[in-house]
Amino acid sequence: MTVHFIGAGPGAPDLLTLRGRDLIAACPVCLYAGSLVPEAVLMHCPDGARIVNTAPMDLDAIMAEITSAHDAGQDVARLHSGDLSVWSAMGEQLRRLREVGVPYTVTPGVPSFAAAAAALGAELTLPGLAQSVVLTRTSGRASQMPEGETLANFARTGATLAIHLSIQNIDAVVAEVAPFYGADCPAAVVFRASWPDQRIIRGTLADIAGRLDEGITRTALILAGPALAQEGFGESCLYAVDYDRRYRPQSADSPWSGWRPEDEGVKG
Ligand SMILES: C[S@@+](CC[C@H](N)C(=O)[O-])C[C@H]1O[C@@H](n2cnc3c(N)ncnc32)[C@H](O)[C@@H]1O
Repeated sequence: MTVHFIGAGPGAPDLLTLRGRDLIAACPVCLYAGSLVPEAVLMHCPDGARIVNTAPMDLDAIMAEITSAHDAGQDVARLHSGDLSVWSAMGEQLRRLREVGVPYTVTPGVPSFAAAAAALGAELTLPGLAQSVVLTRTSGRASQMPEGETLANFARTGATLAIHLSIQNIDAVVAEVAPFYGADCPAAVVFRASWPDQRIIRGTLADIAGRLDEGITRTALILAGPALAQEGFGESCLYAVDYDRRYRPQSADSPWSGWRPEDEGVKG
């Protein structure tokens, strides 16, 4: 018996990996975090599967479900929204499973920041503007930020900020970030990226908060940073005509001269 942790993606049911879909289809038990995991993903569960929404449950109750499946020799599909590597509460479940010796696997999913960037049609790392993306949040009722992980510290780097779980704090977010990026720095809010009711609000740090309406209270990402302008950046060397690289040696003196894609098993 194995517990398969599966990233269920940002909302659109077809933004689930093929591996995730096949594991869901193979598990007689499915535990899903119903606050964000789309119900349509559950259509992959086999007929007669035990399907449990864990949103109203505490960790002990979730572990009791897993233990009961373990005793019955039944594999479990454990679904969390987006990817499991950020804000999934997977860590505490894995720790409990290790303590009791229950095997598990982890299958990644499409994270919400990637879905939001796709909705914006934006590359978040652009040459000369930003080469890092900070996935962060602000303190909430249940979680305090560790000292040092302040928005000001991250903004000081000039990276693109993808701020989760913070739409209710947008005024404080803007106040902390604007001194580093400037009030005219581009910013965006993507509400329910990839869902049918997805909304995109673009603006600057000066006006983004005022552009939101009352409907945007949760399940939204705030993005900010110079890269969001999608202009004023250089081209990458990768496709520059004169860039000497393995796939396009520029002269007979190139260290890659004579190298062929087939040498690495790449079909030419
Ligand atoms: C508990 S975290 C889960 C993050 C998730 N594990 C991921 O990979 O994105 C929930 C927060 O992620 C963001 N989020 C999740 N799904 C989203 C979506 N479809 N559109 C915009 N933001 C989303 C929001 O900031 C929300 O408050």
